[in-house]
Amino acid sequence: MTALTLRDFVAGYDPDLPIVKDVTLDVPEGQVLTILGPNGAGKSTLIRAVAGMVPIFSGEVRLSGRDVTRAPAHALARAGLGFVPQTENVFTRLSIRENLQIAAELLPRSARAARVAAMLAMFPDLAARPEALAGSLSGGQRQMLAAARALLSEPRVLILDEPSAGLSPKLVAQVFDSLRRIAQGGVTLVLVEQNVRAALALADRAVVLVDGRLAHDAPAAELVGNPLLGQLFLGARAA
Ligand SMILES: Nc1ncnc2c1ncn2[C@@H]1O[C@H](COP(=O)(O)OP(=O)(O)OP(=O)(O)O)[C@@H](O)[C@H]1O
Ligand SMILES: [Mg+2]
Repeated sequence: MTALTLRDFVAGYDPDLPIVKDVTLDVPEGQVLTILGPNGAGKSTLIRAVAGMVPIFSGEVRLSGRDVTRAPAHALARAGLGFVPQTENVFTRLSIRENLQIAAELLPRSARAARVAAMLAMFPDLAARPEALAGSLSGGQRQMLAAARALLSEPRVLILDEPSAGLSPKLVAQVFDSLRRIAQGGVTLVLVEQNVRAALALADRAVVLVDGRLAHDAPAAELVGNPLLGQLFLGARAA
């Protein structure tokens, strides 16, 4: 079964100047896909359009076969999509628990407390001090809280925009450990990353977006030693 499908997907901010151009992509259930590409390629625009936050000009989005093109964010959440934006993904002035409780408001009242408890059980770092303000967390812990908020409604597909951006190597490892556990739980992951090595180590498959178009689509392991990718990213990063 295909978890997420994009067909001839065109999106952007100005209809005369599309950023994402004719992207067609099938993400099978349970796959971990990473979207790589240079700065400004349109990676964030692509996933934000899927998540209902950027206009879609043409084409379609399907979740488990169901057409959700231009569905509002709450409807997408109900249809099984979780989205973690790169920044401003938690309420810094609220506690860990309150952040989870707000995300739980999408659920039937009777289910909320159990899902908040389940998320705390899944992220021991968060469970250690649920009353701490989100603004006081480390960058890595904050990304875990953002992921926990998105996972609360039990999405089948979780899309994340650079969850490791700005983190120290140790925190990057923690975030990727969490993502690995989420994937092992059967959630389909779509991950935009600049941290190419870590992303390729986690992912089953990688696509490269260049100037809004899919330029490459391969098993992640194949790209690890690929000189083209090395030129585009690894060399620049390592320098
Ligand atoms: N809110 C916006 N309004 C207008 N144009 C935007 C907006 N956000 C991004 N763009 C433009 O869309 C293009 C793609 O940007 P996008 O943020 O999607 O790239 P990206 O691949 O995520 O880059 P990065 O790796 O730097 O995060 C850029 O030319 C950018 O200037
Ligand atoms: Mg981006």
